[in-house]
Amino acid sequence: MEQDTQLQVQGDPEPVRDPHRSLHSEMGARPGEHSGRSGNPLVKVAGLAWLEFEKPDLDRAERFYADFGFTVADRTPETLLLRGRWASTACLVVRRGPRPRFVGPAFQAAARDDLDRLARGSAGTVTAHWGGHGVLMRDPSGYPVRVIHGVPELAALPERAALPMNAGDFGQLGSGPVRVNATQRPARRPAQIQRLGHVVLGTTRFGAALDWYLDTLGLIVSDFLYLDGQRDRGPAMAFIRCDLGSVPSDHHTLAMALMPQTGYLHSAYQLTDIDEVAASGEYLREQGYRHAWGLGRHIQGSQIFDYWRDPDKAMFEHYTDGDMFDCTMAPGWAPLSASGLAQWGPKATAVFTGANDPRVVVAAIKALADKGNEIDRHALRGLIKAMGS
Ligand SMILES: [Fe+2]
Repeated sequence: MEQDTQLQVQGDPEPVRDPHRSLHSEMGARPGEHSGRSGNPLVKVAGLAWLEFEKPDLDRAERFYADFGFTVADRTPETLLLRGRWASTACLVVRRGPRPRFVGPAFQAAARDDLDRLARGSAGTVTAHWGGHGVLMRDPSGYPVRVIHGVPELAALPERAALPMNAGDFGQLGSGPVRVNATQRPARRPAQIQRLGHVVLGTTRFGAALDWYLDTLGLIVSDFLYLDGQRDRGPAMAFIRCDLGSVPSDHHTLAMALMPQTGYLHSAYQLTDIDEVAASGEYLREQGYRHAWGLGRHIQGSQIFDYWRDPDKAMFEHYTDGDMFDCTMAPGWAPLSASGLAQWGPKATAVFTGANDPRVVVAAIKALADKGNEIDRHALRGLIKAMGS
């Protein structure tokens, strides 16, 4: 369903063309397409709690994470726990492992009873976990997915307040500028990460994985992307949020994309404002880290973003000013393309899309041979076209 794309400005007889007319998130589902939510989910999780990784060299990992803006919550010879500044559990759990890899996500249950419901529904068991309880399941992509409840939160840490901006109509309505006789000097230092925002995963079993997260964890879709010219196949990417009813939730807590290889794509961490994103990016550049893409503003989620790769090439995003949706927003539908991921900013790089990674070709050949997944020649052609357009 196409919505009205003309805006009427009060007192102006001429309608003003909506600058987002060409931004396809304005488009809704066609009859019969995926509704983006389950009719009867097992539970509705309250949020993303943390992400689990393995790294062979925890010292090197700690250096990058500290430079990226995390605070160390705990460190043992085998485990590194990292946190943001808002009151929460640790948001990254890094264990020593033989090779660098993403293990899986942990979600926060809304109630203790929900763990029992999940355990019954997945033939799993509720066990004690870090001072609370958890249940471990496996999604159709093969990721271990933990849902936890009652794990104690770490107290909030001090952080820089958002900068006062002489922006908008200051001085026009008698209010005056918000900043007088004072300068702006955001520090060029590691970011102060506030919290974990979202994780983005690639999967060769997109449809099955999508339905599992909606049916099992009660997540709902904010935006679908489809392969251009292949909309009849259904979506190939989904931006998925928590259903908190009337309470606004991040536009996406989880995003998943059909890919020739199942794997972690990136995770994103909220900063207080655009100066924090830009100035901490300068710091990372000075330390010699590999920049992947940014600054820019996304379309799906509207975040101002900046992407970096850690020394093992895993991608991490700083963002600020993301959309918050309550449960009333229906999913948007749009064609998938690299250029369609941002409203403004530099062109998406091959470092970001992974198009320059020779392992993608090997993965594609393997995925084509595996009849148990959703990768066929049409899908592959559509994905290659999307990355280059
Ligand atoms: Fe992101």
